[in-house]
Amino acid sequence: MSGLLADRVAVVTGAARGIGGATAELLAEHGARVVCVDLDGDGLARTVGSLGGRGVAVAADLTAPAAPAEVVARAVDEYGRLDIVVNNAGYTWDGIFHKMTDEQLAAMLDIHLTAPFRLLRAAAPVLREAAKRDAAEGREVFRKVVNVTSIAGTMGNVGQANYAAAKAALTGLTRTLAKEWGPLRINVNAVAFGFVQTRLTADATEAGTFEHGDHRIPLGIPGAVREQAAARIPLGRPATPAEAAGGIFLLCSPWSNFVHGQVLTVAGGQAEGMS
Ligand SMILES: NC(=O)c1ccc[n+]([C@@H]2O[C@H](COP(=O)([O-])OP(=O)(O)OC[C@H]3O[C@@H](n4cnc5c(N)ncnc54)[C@H](O)[C@@H]3O)[C@@H](O)[C@H]2O)c1
Repeated sequence: MSGLLADRVAVVTGAARGIGGATAELLAEHGARVVCVDLDGDGLARTVGSLGGRGVAVAADLTAPAAPAEVVARAVDEYGRLDIVVNNAGYTWDGIFHKMTDEQLAAMLDIHLTAPFRLLRAAAPVLREAAKRDAAEGREVFRKVVNVTSIAGTMGNVGQANYAAAKAALTGLTRTLAKEWGPLRINVNAVAFGFVQTRLTADATEAGTFEHGDHRIPLGIPGAVREQAAARIPLGRPATPAEAAGGIFLLCSPWSNFVHGQVLTVAGGQAEGMS
């Protein structure tokens, strides 16, 4: 298949729905083959079914220490290479700070920092060896890492001390890896989203729960807070998942080859946290 990303192979985590699902679709539409990872096997099957044969599913809990190596092995077994890693999987477990438990903090660090850290460490040999081969043979080929963060991480957000801290930590990882992997032409960037319409930000009466370990964590935002949040967006409304995927796609494309170690805010102009 031709396309901007023809021959590229991407891993997208949290691809069963929302921003990750839309990102997998956009990457595949432009020629990439996509290894889609999520806890939710049914959602993954729906996403992979929409990729026109250009994707495979890996149903895994990314907080399990062995999962990242399985994901990288699947990309190499299936397609023989790996060029793009999008660390997008995540959820929120909100609470006001003075009542927040150690478990709430640990859960957010686990999924938003440790899981991306481990996936990139597992991908490192594949990305780095290919980069060194290209350099030895005189080719300049750019590979891409995109870490999904939030304006909660860059600006703070009431009720999300755990999530904001974990997302901020991910930007530290992003900027450090950009320095280490830049010489290998592996672009490492982050996207900080504002309010995107997904299950995570649906009305709390409809969003349902996220099940992890022994926990059933309520998702969503109270209706009044959603309305206030939307009113603060200069573009006048939240983003669709497809619009959010556009920001990630830019950082996966050759048009961003000299964008490196950056946090791209995709928030419709919003310049503060959601609440
Ligand atoms: N929606 C927003 O407004 C918004 C704003 C800023 C940042 N984000 C970030 O964007 C990313 C995607 O969120 P979304 O809004 O598309 O949410 P979503 O709930 O629609 O999708 C997230 C997906 O991640 C998966 N996931 C969560 N934990 C996992 C785990 N341990 N292993 C494997 N898969 C796991 C879920 O099953 C789900 O399918 C998240 O990192 C989120 O923090 C979202």
